[in-house]
Amino acid sequence: MSFVSDQFRFLRALAARPKNVGAVAPSGPQLAKAMAAQIRLDLVEKGGSVLELGPGTGAITGALVARVGAERLTAVEYDGDFSAGLKARWPAMRVIEGDAFDLDRTLGHREPYAAIVSGLPLLNFPMEMRHRLLDGVAARLMPGASFIQFSYGLHAPVTPPDGHIVAQAAFCWANMPPARVWVYRKA
Ligand SMILES: C[S@@+](CC[C@H](N)C(=O)[O-])C[C@H]1O[C@@H](n2cnc3c(N)ncnc32)[C@H](O)[C@@H]1O
Repeated sequence: MSFVSDQFRFLRALAARPKNVGAVAPSGPQLAKAMAAQIRLDLVEKGGSVLELGPGTGAITGALVARVGAERLTAVEYDGDFSAGLKARWPAMRVIEGDAFDLDRTLGHREPYAAIVSGLPLLNFPMEMRHRLLDGVAARLMPGASFIQFSYGLHAPVTPPDGHIVAQAAFCWANMPPARVWVYRKA
């Protein structure tokens, strides 16, 4: 898949579902690498997998594949066209077409992950849905594992669940628009 076709598919999805897509372009390489760098490789070496929520055209997925390998990745994507593109590009990755805000239904299990990485446009969703998402995520993290989320706002897009903390891990000024990487983990 080329940069131009990714951009075209992204804009087509944006026009159809602006709230869900929530960005004017796929994430850039600086942001993708900053997200992937937050994954604890020792947890992956212990056998943990990584879950990506809202991978879109795969801009961040590529950096995740480079860090942990496609066979260690599961992706949950709402859009059928994006899901098909991801399956074609990384056949070893598990791609589930479903709703990241309903992980019980979408995943059907509570496998603990070495990291959960999200490109979901959280600021477009009501706070109640953001909290529901984080509760589902917190129930699926290995001890010491993180939830890694980017956001275009100045502040973390949702307060952490009880017993968890959030910290800014990176500011990606070269991204369009500039984005912050937020890492949530158990206190
Ligand atoms: C801002 S785009 C980010 C795409 C990609 N991660 C990137 O950084 O370029 C948001 C993505 O989340 C997906 N998405 C939105 N709502 C979703 C949901 N409820 N479940 C799963 N994916 C969702 C959209 O289809 C889109 O691919």
